[in-house]
Amino acid sequence: MPALKILVIPGSLRTGSHNARLAATAAYQFAQAGADVTRISLGDFPLPIYDGDLQAKSGVPKNAINLKRMMSAHHGVLIVTPEYNSSVPALVKNTIDWVTRVQDTHETRGQVFRERPFAIAAASESRLGGTRSLAALRLILSSCHATVIPSQLALSFAADAYDDMDRLKHPRDIEALNALVRQLIDVSQRMM
Ligand SMILES: Cc1cc2nc3c(=O)[nH]c(=O)nc-3n(C[C@H](O)[C@H](O)[C@H](O)COP(=O)(O)O)c2cc1C
Repeated sequence: MPALKILVIPGSLRTGSHNARLAATAAYQFAQAGADVTRISLGDFPLPIYDGDLQAKSGVPKNAINLKRMMSAHHGVLIVTPEYNSSVPALVKNTIDWVTRVQDTHETRGQVFRERPFAIAAASESRLGGTRSLAALRLILSSCHATVIPSQLALSFAADAYDDMDRLKHPRDIEALNALVRQLIDVSQRMM
């Protein structure tokens, strides 16, 4: 069996992002569990706001195609999203919208979402930890016919969630991340 490849996508570009930090923590856990991990920044895949006229005129942007191919090259995907006004940030939604428009040769549109499982996590300084953003992201991915694993992590009070060694310090967060990592690996292996 080939090495299991997991793609980790933080949904924030902000310097000092809590979600980028959580994505790094999760990537480390996946690597510890034996997975081959790629952690990207959406800053390397800049995309215009989706516009059907733009797509009709110029096609799907190369960055959306590249990101879709990056996803296709992995067996499982983790998206770590901030919560903006009780939902996902425009960056995350817009990226997914463009990727759903990619159709490579011998593929049906949206195939990349159907053929591999997704996990979702969020980090916020609030008590809810981005729970509403997770609900929104789960709905979006499910509408793309993705398998979204049940285990998820909503990291509350994200600025105070780590110890001096940059490890998650609260048992509930550690257990939630471990469960997510185990489950995404398990489901990814079954869908390989
Ligand atoms: C436009 C905007 C709306 C926000 N709305 C929420 C919200 O609904 N719930 C929440 O927990 N945090 C909210 N926040 C705070 C973000 O979760 C916080 O800034 C977080 O650190 C952003 O993620 P990042 O650190 O990964 O960049 C909002 C922030 C912005 C800029």
